[in-house]
Amino acid sequence: MRSRYNILPMPFLLKNVLVLVCGSVAAGKAPTALRRLREAGYTLQVIATARALEFVTALTLATAAESEVHTDLDWFKVQPGGKHLELSHFPDAVVVLAATSDTMARAALGLSGDLASATLLSVRCPILWVPAMNPRMWEHPATQGHKTTLESWGHHFVGPVSGKLGTRGEGAGMGRMVEPEDVVGAVRALVTARDLEGLHFLVTAGPTREYLDPVRFISNPSSGKMGYAVAKVALERGAQVTLVTGPVSLTPPPGAKVVQIESALELKAAVDAAFESVDAVVMTAAVADYRASKPSSEKETKTSSALTLELTPNPDILKGLGERKTHQILVGFAMETDKGVDKAADKARRKNLDFILLNYPARVGEGIGFGADDNEVTLVRPDGTFEVWERMTKLEVGKRVLDGILERWKERNVK
Ligand code: C5P
Repeated sequence: MRSRYNILPMPFLLKNVLVLVCGSVAAGKAPTALRRLREAGYTLQVIATARALEFVTALTLATAAESEVHTDLDWFKVQPGGKHLELSHFPDAVVVLAATSDTMARAALGLSGDLASATLLSVRCPILWVPAMNPRMWEHPATQGHKTTLESWGHHFVGPVSGKLGTRGEGAGMGRMVEPEDVVGAVRALVTARDLEGLHFLVTAGPTREYLDPVRFISNPSSGKMGYAVAKVALERGAQVTLVTGPVSLTPPPGAKVVQIESALELKAAVDAAFESVDAVVMTAAVADYRASKPSSEKETKTSSALTLELTPNPDILKGLGERKTHQILVGFAMETDKGVDKAADKARRKNLDFILLNYPARVGEGIGFGADDNEVTLVRPDGTFEVWERMTKLEVGKRVLDGILERWKERNVK
């Protein structure tokens, strides 16, 4: 089946923004930010925490937002179900304004004891944090740790910035909330980030397991982090994602269609079945090159003599897709230890790929590669041209890979 999309996907316009106002002194800027968001064309709903209402009145917020303001007082009030669940269906994006260390900590820990926290747990759309707090509180490892956790889930941050602080005697420091105009800019950035709307990505992740008997297998240390990062970013940017995953200890990003596999042959079956209807394939799975020729259905008994295993090569799944390719963009990952670029370019040609990401086995102590949060990759094209990317998080690598796919998509579809 030919792709449904012969033209560029149009940026999807977000309309509904849920703004959570927290109890920082910067809550005083919330009415201006709400007014600016409304003027920029967004339809707003507002939640104010109990502490926020000590800095700014609900009436001021409601007037600025031209909407109701929800508080802990009306949570669960005379209605079935919960206000947080009702509100969770509304937004295309959530903005946490004048975000305090307390609200960040609650969200990072998954607490849900107030309306704002419970709503943050319930929504499935991009979340933008706009922190405002004392610099010592911002720089504290607890707050920074919570920020890292939230970012690992794909949450976005704008600010804080360095500047004059609202607290008496504190002078200046890193903790000041960004200006309302910057909030609007950051929300807009979330909007335009949904540039993959209408595209369907097939992403493979993790290792395969090739069983020798019911309890022993050949595998590799792939953690699945790279593939899950690609899937997460693609979903955030509005794509539909089918995630075919080997056994890993990660939670799939919300919204992905997940197909669990173990062996290379199961991976092949899942990928082959989905291929026709997808627009791009990102193959990060570390497929075992061999499987046992004669796996045993019973556990093999240990003996003291040497054991010879006969292995059969697994099919090259990506190469198979390359042969079937019609409109799909195909991207692979290659792990090499030497002559990386030449070998990767050769693989890209043999497998009929649009490009391949060359990376390296785990560099012990450096936090790169297998199992790590960071990666250092080189994008290699079939013609041998390449781009060396500096070390970055796997989420950032995922973003750049998707940028590369979108670029190829545009080249193909807009002539
Ligand atoms: O193992 P190799 O270096 O050839 O892997 C490069 C790419 O090919 C990776 O994206 C991997 O997922 C894919 N591959 C595959 N089937 C195999 C081996 C690798 O699809 N049997």
